[in-house]
Amino acid sequence: MAKVILIGFMGSGKSTVARRLGELLAHPVVEMDEAIVERSGLPSVAEIFAQRGEAAFRDLESAVAESLAAASDVIVSTGGGVVTRDRNMEHLRANGGKVFLLHAPFDTVAARNAGLETRPLFRDGSRARQLFEARAPLYARWADETLDSASRSVDDLCSGILSRLNFRP
Ligand code: S3P
Repeated sequence: MAKVILIGFMGSGKSTVARRLGELLAHPVVEMDEAIVERSGLPSVAEIFAQRGEAAFRDLESAVAESLAAASDVIVSTGGGVVTRDRNMEHLRANGGKVFLLHAPFDTVAARNAGLETRPLFRDGSRARQLFEARAPLYARWADETLDSASRSVDDLCSGILSRLNFRP
């Protein structure tokens, strides 16, 4: 039984690692941002922020986190702000959820986000840097294990996670 929760800042590699882990474990992957968009009835995260504001987005995010409390055999790729509400993390950690933090330096995630319009909170670089610094203690607080996603390949990150789960392919 594995319930794997990937947390980390925008651009830290959660979605890529989640996809690969899902293949390796033969578990479905839940992309929280996609589930939020589905619930909203709008076409994208950017549209939710633009039309309804960040607070509405956070409420949808919390509803999705709650819906995953009893899930098992799943890989959850969270949005970078999921750690801003304790309840979200309590729901995600329920039922044996193990939380892995993918960490990369700000300059690395900034380069990955350059020119992307899909992340409303990354449009302003200096605001993004402030968020990055403000969130660091929250990520550290919830992580069962932290992996450096700037210096490690996707397969290597997955091996690290699998060995922590005691999974032998
Ligand atoms: C956000 C991160 C995004 C998305 C939304 C808000 C954040 O997810 O949930 O734009 O507050 O850090 P990714 O981390 O998948 O980009």
